[in-house]
Formats: sequence, structure tokens, C-alpha cells
Amino acid sequence: MNMHYAVCLLICVPCILRAEYLYEYSMTAAGKEFVIAFLKNSLNRYEPYLKILTPFVEDVELQISTPAWNSVDSFHLTYTVNKSYPLEVKLPFRLRVQTSTVDNRIVYVKSSKPIFVFAADFQRDTGSYFLLYPVKTFGTEYIVGAFGNANSRNSELKSLLGCLAIHTDTEIRITPPVNQLLTFNKRTYKHDEEVVVTINRFQLAQIMGIDVTGSFVRSNKPIAVISGHEHVMVHGNSEIVSGHDMIMAQMPPVATLSNVYPVASTSNNDEELIRVFAVHDNTAFSIYSPGSVISQFIKDRTSYFEFYIAKNEGATVVADNPVQVIQISTSGDRFTGDPRMIVTLSLDSYVTEYMFVTTVDAAFPNAIYTHTVIIIVSESAKGKLYLDGKSIINIPHEGTPSSCGYANLEAIRINVDAGYHTLGCHLEDNEYCTVYLNGYFKNSQYGTAINRHLGVLGSSKSSSLQEMGGTDTGPMTTALFRVAAVDQKPSTASKITFYVSSFIECHLFMPPIQQLRIGDI
Ligand SMILES: *[C@@H]1O[C@H](CO)[C@@H](O)[C@H](O)[C@H]1NC(C)=O
Repeated sequence: MNMHYAVCLLICVPCILRAEYLYEYSMTAAGKEFVIAFLKNSLNRYEPYLKILTPFVEDVELQISTPAWNSVDSFHLTYTVNKSYPLEVKLPFRLRVQTSTVDNRIVYVKSSKPIFVFAADFQRDTGSYFLLYPVKTFGTEYIVGAFGNANSRNSELKSLLGCLAIHTDTEIRITPPVNQLLTFNKRTYKHDEEVVVTINRFQLAQIMGIDVTGSFVRSNKPIAVISGHEHVMVHGNSEIVSGHDMIMAQMPPVATLSNVYPVASTSNNDEELIRVFAVHDNTAFSIYSPGSVISQFIKDRTSYFEFYIAKNEGATVVADNPVQVIQISTSGDRFTGDPRMIVTLSLDSYVTEYMFVTTVDAAFPNAIYTHTVIIIVSESAKGKLYLDGKSIINIPHEGTPSSCGYANLEAIRINVDAGYHTLGCHLEDNEYCTVYLNGYFKNSQYGTAINRHLGVLGSSKSSSLQEMGGTDTGPMTTALFRVAAVDQKPSTASKITFYVSSFIECHLFMPPIQQLRIGDI
């Protein structure tokens, strides 16, 4: 071995390992610091909780705290989590933020190594379960995806938007959607009036409306934005009756949004609503679905375009500028179902390692849920997916190949048993794979993305955004929770059954952008 080669090995091998590590965990939903707040809910009898997972085999230490209480309630509560044992941590329901104002009822999670955190907020017959993004991925611009219904049976039930600060003196400006009002601090704001508020580290501002969808949020320092609705009926295109439920999710920063979004129907639904939001005014996009291509145009970025996909259907949204795509199921069946909201991923946001744990409605601990994963995968890569270590090819299933997008994509639905699961995608270049998790039990359902790339697109993968690492400690007095962690054993792969397999058949090509624009104006 010559000197040159030896030097190269010394330098390059650690680089490669490091690069892989960064790719998998650095700018994904895995992180070491998280904040979450539980927004208004007219029902508040059951404790919200966090579900925490880690890809590390050895124990990872973490602390959960809040600035909301001090003195006698203060103590540091520490948990450990490892790859085999996800954690469930119940939080006091006094933490809920019921008013539209500035509040400090924020939960702060800090760990020694990257973890995944899911927030579960279930009341009886209503609830949401969603993936949290770590502090290092927070941005300064957001488009708010949500749903609202002016004809809701109770006008006290609100569409909600929470802006959470991690730095002192964070100025936040929110543009209300076209034709919608926002309320904050007992004041009402129209589309041409910005909500302006300055908050500190570990404070949040909760903003309400009939439908906060399309609100545009900007801040001078990175923040988190969560949004949804406390309890809403999501009407279908052809359905007459739909269930009510909470929908809630954390929004990805605008800088991480991209142009190509495949969507596939989840199980148990007659149809699902897809909402497309544009980052810039005058965004053109096309919707490719079986046998059709429809061109659309969004003139004002605080408006949006929506369409339905039918049961066992899919579609791909291809835009000339970055968009955000939200998928909201209407109801599980016509009379007892509940809506759920998923923030879908662009092809650029797909990663190759996914881990997740199922959940249930806190009011029905013994309910028998149907837990389903929806995997969107390049047709050529189906043989390279390992669910709980087992190749999905080795499980009998049906699959309909399709021709869609830059890859030939297929959607596969698999029912999994309750508990902890992993999906590994051993992909080659130009192959894609992602997974969404859904749970269904009569009146209480949930749906969420599992993991995503959250780097700033167009910049290098090793972004300058860093974990705060405790350097900006701010005015925080910590009170921690006197609650026990509940271990959940991993489930066994043998119980996995393929359920349904279906998908998109569409031939996708990128039409010239000019053509799209002309057709739409
Ligand atoms: C993982 O956590 C469980 C439960 O706390 C523990 O019994 C086990 O020893 C841990 N495994 C490792 C490798 O630390």
C-alpha cells in the first residue's frame, strides 16, 4: 500500500461513515431536542402523551421538562430509551393551552443521542398522533396546512395554529388566509392585517380561526409550527355523513419543501381530500392520476387548491415551484369514521430508514385497532424492503405495477400488529420508498408520516443548522413530570399480513412550465 493510498484511507473512510450517519439522522426527524404544545381541545379528560424511539441499540438518556411550573413541582425527570424498547410518557392534562394568547405550556425533550418523538393527543372518540421534527430543523417560514368548516355543528370548535419559539425575542408575523379571519389575544385579523407577536424561548402563540389553512408564517428566528383542528367534520366529495375528529400535525419549514408529491389512499376510506399549498404566488402544477392529467394554478400563496382521491387510488402532484401537500381522510366509513391529517412527503424528502410505534385512543386502552402502513415504493425496489427485518417479497401479496413520476411507483398497504416496527429500504439511485402509518378503530383514527428528510433543499446535506446544545438556555425554570414510562415490547414479524395492494396507473412526464401557465391564466 503506498503512502498516498494509506492517507486517503485514513481520511476518506471516516468521512464516508460520517456522511452516511449525517444522511440518516442529521437532517431527518431524528434529533436531540424537541418542543411540543398541546393546543386547545374542548375535551380535556385524557392525558396527552409522547411516544419516543431511537435507532441506537444502547440506552439513550433523555429529559422531559416544561417551563410552565416551578418551585415545588420542579425536578429533573430522566428516562432511557433504546432500539428495542420505545417509551411512552404520559403528560399532565393541565398542560393544554386553551386560550388564544401567549403561553408557556411547552414540553421540552432533550436527549443524549438522536431520537424520534411522536405526539399523541387523544380524547374520547377524537385524537391525533403525529411526528415531531427536531429543533435543528426548525425554519423561519411556514405555510399552514389544516382544515376548517364554517358549517361545523359547534362554532366554538376551532381550527388551530401554534407557533413555538426556542430563542428569546422571536418576532412572528402571520398573514391570515384569503377570505378567512384569524383571532389572537381577543383581536380579529383580516387577510390584509398581519398578526405580529414577539415571544421568548419556550413560549408559544396560539392562533385560532374557522379555518387557518393557508396562513403564512414568518419569523426572525427559527420556530416550530403545528396546526390542525380540535374537532372537525371533513366532508367528502360524494359522502353525506362524515365523522368529526381532531386533526393535528407539525408543519415542515418552507425551505424543505419541494415539487413532486406522490399520494396514495389509506385504508377504510371512501375518499380523501388532498390540499396543495404554494410557497410562492403564481405556482403552476399538474395532478397525474389514473387516465388523467389536470393542470392547476395557485395565484395567491395564502390560498390553496384541493381535490379528492378515491379509495385504492393515487395521484402525483408535480409543481413548477415548491408546494406543500396535505392529505386529509374524510371518514373511516360513512357513519362512524373520523378524519385524520397527514403531511405528505415530496420524493426529495424520502429517506431509507423508518421506525415507528402504533398507538391507541387513551379513552379506549383495550380497543382493537387496525394499524396499517401505506408504503410508496419504486416498483423496482419492492424486493429491497424489509419490514421488521423480513423482506416483504416473502409475504404473499398482490401488487399492481404502475408508471408514475420519475420512478415507477407502487403503493402497498400492510396491516401490522400493535407495537414497534421498522422499515428498511435498501435502494439504488433513483429508487424511492416512504411509509405512512394509520390506525383505525370506529370513532377514533390517526395517521402520520414516520420520518422525512428535513434539510434545506438546494443546500448541502450538512446544513449549518445545529442542535442548540444547551447554549441558549433562556429564562427557563423546569418542572418535570411525575409520571411513569411504559415500555412496549417489539412485535414479531410473523404477525404481519398483507392486506390490500393498489395504485396509481399514470404516465408522468414534465410538461414545459410555460405551457402550464398559459393553460391556466
Ligand atoms: C433496553 O432497554 C430495556 C428496558 O429498559 C433494558 O432492559 C435493556 O437492557 C436495554 N438494552 C440495552 C442494550 O441497553
